[in-house]
Amino acid sequence: MGKMKAVVLLSGNGSNFKNILDRIKDGYLNMEICAVISDNEKAYGLQRAKDENIKTFSLKDNINDDLNKFLDKIDLDLIILAGYMKILPPDIVDKYNGKILNIHPSLLPKYKGMNTHQRVIEDKESFHGATVHFVTDKLDGGPLILQQKISVDAKDTAETLKEKVHCAEYSIYPLVIKWYIDGLLEQSENNFLFKGEKIESPIQDISNIK
Ligand code: GAR
Repeated sequence: MGKMKAVVLLSGNGSNFKNILDRIKDGYLNMEICAVISDNEKAYGLQRAKDENIKTFSLKDNINDDLNKFLDKIDLDLIILAGYMKILPPDIVDKYNGKILNIHPSLLPKYKGMNTHQRVIEDKESFHGATVHFVTDKLDGGPLILQQKISVDAKDTAETLKEKVHCAEYSIYPLVIKWYIDGLLEQSENNFLFKGEKIESPIQDISNIK
């Protein structure tokens, strides 16, 4: 089989995109990123893509129409949301059902939405983390695939948590993408199949997974 084709959608810095790109370059991920798309023309992630000669596309006023037309031109295997802060239009979620992954900075279903690190500090949580999930029409609510937990220390601030969560993201997102590329992962209604077996809750311990 040829290389999988993916697009990345982002709204900001794009450090997850950069990390995924590094994992393509070092041979871990057998995939091609054919475009990086953003709703924010000033997103640094777009500059990162340009520096690597990856096509970029900035969504203007009519985000949904623009996105639909752009994606229609590519024979896509996977849509990777990497810090994309808009909600995907339902027709795109429908059309690419089972082919859209997102990373979210919390242990979903806790802390959906924005400002997760600050809210975790305010709630004096002992644990925080990151989750990779399939995207459905429910906000931050599709089948949860893999989570990495981090502990919250007394000295942590929203800023230090953001760094810790980013570190977790850099390890779990490429791993899930690799599972997807290797055909180990499949979305199934409200849960997912891993190696053909239905998984009801997110994987949290990968020590037994080869
Ligand atoms: C990441 O922490 C990602 O989980 C979060 O945005 C950050 C993007 O960082 N995504 C969301 O909050 C989506 N709801 P990056 O631009 O450096 O990759």
